[in-house]
Amino acid sequence: MEQELQSLLATALEEINAAAGETVLEEARLRYLGKKGLVTALSARMREVPPDQKAAIGSCLNDARTGITAALETRKAALQAEQDARAAEGLDVTLPGRPLPAGALHPMTQVLDRAIRILRRMGFALATGPEVETEWHCFDALNTPADHPARNESDTFYFPNGMLLRTHTSSVQVRTMQTQSPPVRIIAPGSAFRRDEIDATHLSAFHQLEGLYVAPDVSLADLKGTLAYFFRALFGKDTEIRFRPHFFPFTEPSYEVDVKLAPKGQTPRWVEILGCGMVDPAVFTAICESRGDDVYHPDRVTGFAFGMGLERLAMIQWGIPDIRHLIENDVRFLQQFA
Ligand code: DAH
Repeated sequence: MEQELQSLLATALEEINAAAGETVLEEARLRYLGKKGLVTALSARMREVPPDQKAAIGSCLNDARTGITAALETRKAALQAEQDARAAEGLDVTLPGRPLPAGALHPMTQVLDRAIRILRRMGFALATGPEVETEWHCFDALNTPADHPARNESDTFYFPNGMLLRTHTSSVQVRTMQTQSPPVRIIAPGSAFRRDEIDATHLSAFHQLEGLYVAPDVSLADLKGTLAYFFRALFGKDTEIRFRPHFFPFTEPSYEVDVKLAPKGQTPRWVEILGCGMVDPAVFTAICESRGDDVYHPDRVTGFAFGMGLERLAMIQWGIPDIRHLIENDVRFLQQFA
């Protein structure tokens, strides 16, 4: 039996060292060490071995088992190394890596984020409203009569059922006052829509940011201070602004605000940037009628409101010459803001 074991070990080692792949190797393992394997079969015959030879044969059996196991492992490692070497063939580890382009925020998102951050510092809370609006929220409640040009079919997108795509975010003022009692101090960024021809300064779908502050004693000085702070935080602490009298149906008095800006290398000029004013008492009256109470009665509260175009803000901030760049998703343009 001792001889049998030794010759078994010799053939096993030969076979294992010649195994060309992992499957062949596994077959060899099963043939020798498996439950029905040759070594296992020999160990079963230990019972027949006379007692005085048991020790010697036993240790022979052990040697065979450990020898075969070690050979299997060595061969397995060698096969793996061969495979790795083949995979790495033709691979030049000194080549520079391929750059992974990093994503970045769209310039409109960046402007919006900055504007919101500044206004939140002053206590304005975010408010939202639907883009598909009723005529009442978009116009009537905002003191904009039926014959106002903004309501014309050539200026506004109407649905067959009389609803419309809001032409400004001012409708959120109305919705906020309908559901919240004063004081309210909100900003409402969002989309607005107009039937404008698309050109270098107009889109038919664009973004605005609306602001509204209503409380017992809000004054024009509060409005001026708020906007002065806002533009200094946005464009730098020496930024100059001016209020130019204007007309909006929902504010009285109304203003357009210009900011004095100096594009690189050019002389400073006044750029119109937003509309604003003191909330018209007619708006408060419409709100009171719709709420059925008088917490917004014009004798009890005053307020200011403002609304600005966010595309315009981005164009001014970065000197973007054509508004269409902002919606074309051309990576050569967008990369500059990463
Ligand atoms: N809604 C105006 C527009 O779309 C902008 C505006 C002007 C908003 C004056 C206001 C405001 O809140 O007080 O042109």
